[in-house]
Amino acid sequence: MNVTNRRGRFITMEGSDGAGKSTNFEYAQSLLEQAGLEIVQTREPGGTGLGEKLREALLRRQGVAIGTAAETLMIFAARAQHIEEVIEPNLAKGKWVLCDRFTDATYAYQGYARALGAERVAVLENWVQGPLRPDLTLLLDVPVALAAKRVGTRGTPDRFEHEDSQFKAAVRSGYLELARRDPDRIQLIDASQDLAAVQADLAQVIRKFLMQFDSETEC
Ligand code: TMP
Repeated sequence: MNVTNRRGRFITMEGSDGAGKSTNFEYAQSLLEQAGLEIVQTREPGGTGLGEKLREALLRRQGVAIGTAAETLMIFAARAQHIEEVIEPNLAKGKWVLCDRFTDATYAYQGYARALGAERVAVLENWVQGPLRPDLTLLLDVPVALAAKRVGTRGTPDRFEHEDSQFKAAVRSGYLELARRDPDRIQLIDASQDLAAVQADLAQVIRKFLMQFDSETEC
């Protein structure tokens, strides 16, 4: 696909903890690479030296209080560095950036589940990101009970995984509300299906997204 002379595209993957992001993230990356695109894969919080240090502080349960305001500002501090160091320079070079979580997670976890409110998240989003928004978001949705079962089979739960089922239900509702409000960008994928069916749905969404660029390059 001939897209090298133009700005790259920014694709994010979202979902509650236990939605199956890791496996499906790798699959999405392989589909994009098979289409001949140069993909930079990254994650939030993280993706830079500073971002990974902040991730460690945010995720580790270490008996240190982190209030919602501090948590949100740490996430946006990591995001500011990530945009400056990784996301923008690569998009400018024409590379496509595939990011495991971005600001939709802040709306769902902090804005919704921590009850910070979407307005406060939007203020930081506008300040830190300027016009940068994902071009496509793949949202993996699973019922809370299934997500909890999947998280339960992993190691020690982190600070977010350790939250109660009410928090997790609010995260899911937050994501579903975002998808309802922005159905063109946020593509909802039923991740409670078996892996083959989830991946077939992912492939269909990605194929449809890439078709726009085929017609652009033909013009
Ligand atoms: P994960 O990358 O392994 O899914 O873990 C990251 C955790 O951080 C996850 O539980 C969600 C949380 N998180 C937020 O609460 N807000 C955010 O903006 C982001 C990016 C992540």
